[in-house]
Amino acid sequence: MPSATTPPYAAPSPPDFDSIPELDWSLVASGDPIDRKLFLSKLRNVLLHVGFMYLKNHPVPTELVERIKQHTVDVFNLPLERKLKMDMIDSPHFYGYNRMAFERTAGAPDIREHIDLGPDSPSTYDPSSGPLYRKMRPGPNPWPDQEDAPGFKEDVKKYIATLAPLSREFIGLVAEAIGLPRESFYQFLEAADVPQGRIKMVHYPPTDTPNAQGVGPHKDGWLTFLLQVNDVPGLQVQNHSGKWVDVPPRDGTYVVNLGKGLQHLTHGVLLATTHRVLPPPPGVHRYSCPFFQDVALDVPWTPLDVPEEVRREVGARGEVVSDVKPLEPAGASDGWQYLANRIKSHPATGLRHYPDFARMVLGEEIFLKESATLDKLLAKRDAEI
Ligand SMILES: [Fe+2]
Repeated sequence: MPSATTPPYAAPSPPDFDSIPELDWSLVASGDPIDRKLFLSKLRNVLLHVGFMYLKNHPVPTELVERIKQHTVDVFNLPLERKLKMDMIDSPHFYGYNRMAFERTAGAPDIREHIDLGPDSPSTYDPSSGPLYRKMRPGPNPWPDQEDAPGFKEDVKKYIATLAPLSREFIGLVAEAIGLPRESFYQFLEAADVPQGRIKMVHYPPTDTPNAQGVGPHKDGWLTFLLQVNDVPGLQVQNHSGKWVDVPPRDGTYVVNLGKGLQHLTHGVLLATTHRVLPPPPGVHRYSCPFFQDVALDVPWTPLDVPEEVRREVGARGEVVSDVKPLEPAGASDGWQYLANRIKSHPATGLRHYPDFARMVLGEEIFLKESATLDKLLAKRDAEI
């Protein structure tokens, strides 16, 4: 008997992908219904069979994109003590700087440093009035000093405020492309007028360590608009047979991909495709800046009724090979799951701001180990500032 994620009918299997398709946003921007239909038809094919795409002719102003690229490079050139003044460990909102190789994916350290930033809204959390996970958002960003990074704060705020509505429009198109009403995913997002979205500025330095990873194989959470900042390759996605396919930087584009939440909500129709980043060769530095759409924290993830004809088409793609081994059911749900995921990615920050919940999430052994190192870590950090 077919499961909820296995359509009962199988159509002929489409060929596996060996490159990443490109979609043209000007077909949406033209306002012509025929163009729009063409975009939706291409989008549907990409969503069902690849899960990754380049998006060209997008509406984000080139000057703003160029400034964000420059800020991404410049901020990592600051001395370590200036970056540590933005240390994520100090932020209950999981915003701020993560030092080199501080995060792990698939059990190994990622050879990168990064800075996570949100829309910079004041915290409204009141412990007496709501669940703990609401402490995560909204919240302020740690910023570099204005003299260290002129224009950084203004440009980042403007950039996030520009990407948020674009990603909202895009996810409406995703719904339409798979035969759902346009508003279908909006119930899982923050209201349109709430400042939202998060960017991660990332620096991948060269390394001569054998088998090092920039980022290990993983799937994203929801919806990502990745800006590849400089012309250094490294991003790869895994096709259905398990082969790694390069996604080299392409000027004027975003790389858009979908995550586990969308796969779960559509019974596996939308694909959360596995990807990784290889470290650059000696002497070369790679930079990137993904934007992540925020999901609402109070909404349970109840799957949607995707039309049968779309589920049938997906049945043709068969098994998808992935280097990511599922540790838990793909369907995360609400704020508690979201907070748990943040704590697993950033245990030191989780321990410091959510100690009781972190103890549950991490388990006693890891909790005690991380607690023992947290004080040392803070002392080391304070000595470095
Ligand atoms: Fe990713």
